[in-house]
Amino acid sequence: MSPTPKGTGHLTAGPVTHSRIAGIGGYRPRRVVPNSELVERIDSSDEWIRERSGIIERRFAGEGESVIDMSVLAAAPALEMAGITGADLGAVIVATVSWPYQTPAAAPLVAERLGSTAAAFDISAACAGYCHGISLASDMVRTGQAEHVLVVGVERLSDFTSLDDRGTAFIFADGAGAAVVSRSDTVGIGPTVWGSDGAQWEAISQTESWIDVHEKQLGWPHIGMAGQTVFRWAVWGMAPVAQQALDAAGITADQLDAFIPHQANVRIIDAMAKKLGLPADLPIARDIAYTGNTSAASVPLAMERMVRHGEIPSGGLALQIGFGAGLSYAAQVVVIP
Ligand code: UT7
Repeated sequence: MSPTPKGTGHLTAGPVTHSRIAGIGGYRPRRVVPNSELVERIDSSDEWIRERSGIIERRFAGEGESVIDMSVLAAAPALEMAGITGADLGAVIVATVSWPYQTPAAAPLVAERLGSTAAAFDISAACAGYCHGISLASDMVRTGQAEHVLVVGVERLSDFTSLDDRGTAFIFADGAGAAVVSRSDTVGIGPTVWGSDGAQWEAISQTESWIDVHEKQLGWPHIGMAGQTVFRWAVWGMAPVAQQALDAAGITADQLDAFIPHQANVRIIDAMAKKLGLPADLPIARDIAYTGNTSAASVPLAMERMVRHGEIPSGGLALQIGFGAGLSYAAQVVVIP
């Protein structure tokens, strides 16, 4: 590569390559929480929760299962599947809204536990965080900034959920999913379609700011949600975004091998599948039944389960979409690892 002449304002860069998900992993906390454990405090029933959300049980992290611990346990199988170690990583991106420190981020600690001193930072895009992370990681790899990037979606939402809140107590859960995005000879991650609607900022939010919590002595805040508002936005707004991701990847629904949407509510998943006109026999992630809504972790956890159970073919195409607080969303087609 010849040096750039002084004064031209030009920098040299390596060739743009391709990216793919080379490894996927997940960690589900040990403690299983069935609906029956939650219903009394919110005057609900197992039947209502199953019918309205599709959730049968979820996992809550126990003592000694921090955001960091869960991230590392999800990352280990992803690194192994990709055939690399932590030392090979060029960056670590952690998507989370439940790391309980304002600063520093969780990612440097996750990197350190994996034996990496790579660039490490968190992103806050709630349930869309993992798909945002995949987009960033893909571009970092494509432009030669890194050869391998770890993307973790992790939540310990039980710390920020009120078990007396009828609208959220039965939904939110804990867990971690991780993917290694690596350099590739072929296109393995399609263009991301993403955006936000800040006008609906309050539809899912921490009930009080940290400043109000402190100054007005409000006690521990939790995440509140205007369930019906979010439900309608997801059902009507997210199917077109998913369709745009298919269009951007240059494929049609009948070419898909899997649909892996954010696990918010099984009725949202079914409505989106219908609006997209997905083939009746297409494998669709319904991890929510046994995992609940794990926000940033839900898409990688759902993919990990499908891959582990052999429900979807390695090398096939999956449409994934995350959506939630912000409101924010991101969708892309990826090649299944
Ligand atoms: O992950 C981020 C994105 N999040 C989402 O996408 C979540 C979107 N929202 C939802 O999934 C749903 O709105 C919920 C599952 C949270 C709630 O389901 P819904 O069908 O929207 O319930 P609703 O608030 O419309 O309430 C319907 C009825 C009401 O009774 P009436 O007025 O019809 O007699 C509520 O009082 O269900 C009642 N209800 C409950 N009953 C038993 C509300 N919450 C409960 C409950 N148990 N927990």
